[in-house]
Amino acid sequence: LRNTYLARIAGAADAAQLEEVRLAALGKKGEISLKMRELGQMSPEERQTYGKALNVLKDELDAALRARKAAMEDAALDERLKAEWLDVTLPARHRPRGTIHPVSQVTEECTAIFADMGFAVAEGPQIETDWYNFDALNIAPEHPARQEHDTFFMHRAPGDNRPPHVLRTHTSPVQIRAMQEQGAPIRVIAPGRVYRMDMDQTHAPMFHQIEGMAIDRDISMANLKWVLEEFFTAYFGTKVKTRFRASHFPFTEPSAEVDIQCSWVNGQLRVGEGDGWLEVLGSGMMHPKVLRAGGIDPDQWQGFAFGMGIDRMAMLKYGIPDLRAFFESDLRWLRHYGFGA
Ligand code: PHE
Repeated sequence: LRNTYLARIAGAADAAQLEEVRLAALGKKGEISLKMRELGQMSPEERQTYGKALNVLKDELDAALRARKAAMEDAALDERLKAEWLDVTLPARHRPRGTIHPVSQVTEECTAIFADMGFAVAEGPQIETDWYNFDALNIAPEHPARQEHDTFFMHRAPGDNRPPHVLRTHTSPVQIRAMQEQGAPIRVIAPGRVYRMDMDQTHAPMFHQIEGMAIDRDISMANLKWVLEEFFTAYFGTKVKTRFRASHFPFTEPSAEVDIQCSWVNGQLRVGEGDGWLEVLGSGMMHPKVLRAGGIDPDQWQGFAFGMGIDRMAMLKYGIPDLRAFFESDLRWLRHYGFGA
């Protein structure tokens, strides 16, 4: 009996078969249980010896059943572990992730600084009518500035009666649109892309400007100077000397170009030290004709305006020598300046 059951326990292939063996031996109607019940009809002496042997057998089979069950569970667990095995020493799969471009980063930084000074953001189209881009800004059709701007003209098919369009050559047309939309008083900046047919180390056919404009009852050059110096200090995180040079723009009078102090140290451009100057923007008091084109009475209101090159501001802050690299989408270059993934 003992050997039969031990053999059947060892031979059980799975938990279900093992349970069958258990029921056959130790279940209520199992062979051992029935034999236990027969003890009642035996003499006391027989009952003692026979009962003892049965109990020993029962305990032995019980232990064997448990051991076999545990072994089966261990095997199942091993199987599962093997199936779910992970090699944590394998190198991780590379997942390239984009980060912000230096020009976008700088645009955001500048926008935040001007926002602190109360300037809201205004926008205009990149494909602009030549009226907004030139005429409204006091640049008449024969004005030499039209040539100087190296304008990209939009082609018009014969019979197309829409007004002539250009790729805007500066963000200044947004001055006109913002005045028309909001009137005076107004304080806005307008960051965006502009286009000129030009390409060398410091010029690209597409680049970025931030236009600034403030119109109020008695705005003066002093306000302009304060706003710009406040901006440079915040942007570069240090006081930077500025130089206002008299200049000429058709849309401002008087006009000034603004340089910031800088120098080259070991082939690196340093802002705020040395005896060099770098032009970063054009500015001035808004011309009465420009205010009028925007629907604002120049006898009641004055304004200042400026236009700053964003790409150049990024080059200065991050020590980037070549403007063209901004637009080549070279990840190695972006990483070098701490922008790539
Ligand atoms: N629009 C001028 C440029 O692109 C810059 C400028 C803006 C100058 C506003 C004066 C006032 O060069």
